[in-house]
Amino acid sequence: MANRTTSAARPKRIKIPFLVDLVVVSDPEQIRTIETSGEVDRLHAYATASLPMWVKTYFRATKFHDSDRDLWFLPFESTAHPEFAKRHAYLADEVAKGYTDSDLQTIARLLNANADDDALAFEMVQIVNRRFFGKEIPHPICQFAKHTVQSFGEAVLPWKYLRGRRSQKAIMNHCEQNLGKAVHPLDVGHNIGEVVQATSLALRRLKDNLEKPIEDIFTLHAPTPQAPRIAVRASRLDGLLSSPMAPGKTVVIFKIGKAAAMTKDISFTFGTGRPERSCIFARFFLRFMADLQRVLKQQPDHKAGY
Ligand code: HEM
Repeated sequence: MANRTTSAARPKRIKIPFLVDLVVVSDPEQIRTIETSGEVDRLHAYATASLPMWVKTYFRATKFHDSDRDLWFLPFESTAHPEFAKRHAYLADEVAKGYTDSDLQTIARLLNANADDDALAFEMVQIVNRRFFGKEIPHPICQFAKHTVQSFGEAVLPWKYLRGRRSQKAIMNHCEQNLGKAVHPLDVGHNIGEVVQATSLALRRLKDNLEKPIEDIFTLHAPTPQAPRIAVRASRLDGLLSSPMAPGKTVVIFKIGKAAAMTKDISFTFGTGRPERSCIFARFFLRFMADLQRVLKQQPDHKAGY
């Protein structure tokens, strides 16, 4: 691996023998270097059955994994996965179809009318995800999408965990029954959850910061706090760790949200500080927010009707 600066904080290691081995990396340069080192890969580089128990237990209550069908959302697949290019191209082509002026006006009206989060999330889900289904995504599915688990803190609360599992199953059943057979149901199911869980807050932040550059808003408040990887080599990460990682067992957490805030670099809001394997929705999101900011500035609250 490349030489490192010595001033940066070392990664934190959390180790509970036979249960958890976590390496938490917050330094932006360390994130970039470790990501490209070949010493870590995506979680599903290993068969699901062989992953640490806590990983399987946690992720099956999130929007990223479907344990019944053994499916993982695309960023959890190694670039070497045989279906990676096909799945990536499908999502990128669909997202590139963009949005309409009427989509922008709808969201601007809702924001100016102080509509609640559910109403905002429902309309944003339609704008982003109707393209995959060719029809409206029903209200109950958008409601379920609020409840997939979003943090370890939630996952340890039994009622939140069980609600997450139920919600995840309901969304996946809907996707399986309503998408074309060639479409990966979790790649789309995830997107409903992501829009519901991340976008309402992002829209309100935008409305509160109409004069601020979009990149400043969404590096200071990056919607995705972290991205996980798994060790594929028994490496000490060029001396950053006092003992080697265990391939297939040690999970590395990149704190990309913190890195985005520290660097003001939007490539940490949508990935690990580099263009490769960054979010395919980033361009859509940034353009939509910039256009919406313009519409909101032209359409003061008192003129809005809802
Ligand atoms: C504000 C909303 C969103 C944020 C902040 C966000 C953020 C991210 C981040 C940080 C990654 C990198 C994950 C990693 O390296 O492990 C990522 C990857 C990805 N995102 Fe998003 N995302 C958002 C919404 C979406 C939506 C709505 C879609 C699809 C319509 C989408 C599709 C993807 C895909 C396909 C990847 C994987 C790209 C690859 O691995 O090559 N994202 N996203």
